[in-house]
Amino acid sequence: MKVLFLLGVLFFPMTVYGVTMNRCAFARRIRDLVLNGYRRISLANWVCLARWESNFNTTATNYNAQDQSTDYGIFQINSRYWCDDDKTPHATNACGVRCSQLLEDNLVKAVECAKKILREQGIGAWVGWKIHCYRHCLSRYLEGCRL
Ligand SMILES: *[C@@H]1O[C@H](CO)[C@@H](O)[C@H](O)[C@H]1NC(C)=O
Repeated sequence: MKVLFLLGVLFFPMTVYGVTMNRCAFARRIRDLVLNGYRRISLANWVCLARWESNFNTTATNYNAQDQSTDYGIFQINSRYWCDDDKTPHATNACGVRCSQLLEDNLVKAVECAKKILREQGIGAWVGWKIHCYRHCLSRYLEGCRL
């Protein structure tokens, strides 16, 4: 039992369930994708952000009843301001994308849009980051990852 449990703990997070990545796999992908000359936030911050916004689930969506908007994808980008889903009232689509493109497995549009949010509002725009990453030790988010 113990051995099985241990195996589960060790290997379960390594499994890629379609679109859900583990922490280190995400760190590697985001590094190749975003960090080329990009210094606004560190890799550990990207990983912490994705951990607490979507738990690395590229297809995560969450509906906000107050303003009838929806948060999309690995960074939970909101349809009220940043993308178009044809159903959010008073939406502005500042990233100029379909919200569904923010769910794509290749992360390209999600990262592009997240960078725009970072430029315009800073990382404090993400509540999950403020609560769980701001002023926290972030080295554990890259711990054990071969980068
Ligand atoms: C990822 O998010 C989608 C949409 O919210 C959900 O249906 C799916 O179960 C999630 N996957 C995991 C592994 O949590």
